[in-house]
Amino acid sequence: MSDALNYLVKVRPEAMAPYFKFLKEAGKHLDPKTRNLISVITKVHAQTENGFRQYLTRALREGATANEILDALLMAFPALGLAKIVWATDILLEMDIPEFRPDLLGALADWHDVAPVEELNDGEVSYLECDGRNLFVYRSEANIRVYDSRCPHQVTNIPHLALHGNQLTCPKHNWAFDIASGECVEKGDRPLHQFQHKVENGRLMAYW
Ligand code: FES
Repeated sequence: MSDALNYLVKVRPEAMAPYFKFLKEAGKHLDPKTRNLISVITKVHAQTENGFRQYLTRALREGATANEILDALLMAFPALGLAKIVWATDILLEMDIPEFRPDLLGALADWHDVAPVEELNDGEVSYLECDGRNLFVYRSEANIRVYDSRCPHQVTNIPHLALHGNQLTCPKHNWAFDIASGECVEKGDRPLHQFQHKVENGRLMAYW
């Protein structure tokens, strides 16, 4: 939520509570993906950049594909007009989300060859690039975890430099994550996204 809305909730709770109740009730028959796609459109219509980034992330998390998001924007042309669609597309390009790259649009999920397992040391984190994505890979005695470098808040590509010991802190709004568990330990409320993985012929494979 924006600082402005947080302020209004604090100083006018009796006025703002019905507003939020209305929003919740209005969408209660819609599945989460549809609700978030509609919110993406409303944020583009109002041209609130943070809101757009936030609901875009939520729509992706609820299973919307890049093609569905682009379709939703184009379908809303009568309300948005070309200028606002271009405004949203500029932000999409700046975010550089792998799924939106022209060569990856519509790509089916598949296994990707990440690295030889022997190059991953116990108790250490490796920052790797694989087929257009950046990954944080944590290996412990018992387990391997493969994390998307994209922040679960607004899809920021968290850089390697953001890792201090076992804590990874997104530079955008300082959500902090425990790299051993993926859990968010400061500021935010969602864990890092983990990719399914397997070891085959001594190589770490990840699925996205
Ligand atoms: S994008 Fe907001 S904390 Fe990462």
